[in-house]
Amino acid sequence: MTPTDRPNTPSGTYVPINLAAKLALIHDRWQPRVVAEMNDYQFKIVKIEGDFVWHDHPDTDETFIVLEGELRIDFRDGAVHLSQGEMFVVPKGKEHKPFAQKEVKLMLIEPRGVQNTGREPNERTARNDVWI
Ligand code: NI
Repeated sequence: MTPTDRPNTPSGTYVPINLAAKLALIHDRWQPRVVAEMNDYQFKIVKIEGDFVWHDHPDTDETFIVLEGELRIDFRDGAVHLSQGEMFVVPKGKEHKPFAQKEVKLMLIEPRGVQNTGREPNERTARNDVWI
């Protein structure tokens, strides 16, 4: 994909990417959708609820920004609780497991091509590079 044919930034137009409008198009959970790219990084939005699987990303940090709801990210030695408007950067190689008691709307920022379940594909692995 070249810079001029990114779905949400067609060349020659100046249209904002409205996150609420994009979120309203999502009717499933744990399936991140790309809304924008910056250099090699992707901005993704996702709805989650319940428990995920333990995993880590050996090659990159992973940024979580809570757009709505209450997110807990568990680590082997603790946890971080994030509310709307809060963010956290999970360090590269650190095992983590997101958890949401009720639905949470998130933005994720990570390099293009990162697998949501970390090193190994499993039943929770989402398709990558799906734009919305
Ligand atoms: Ni992760």
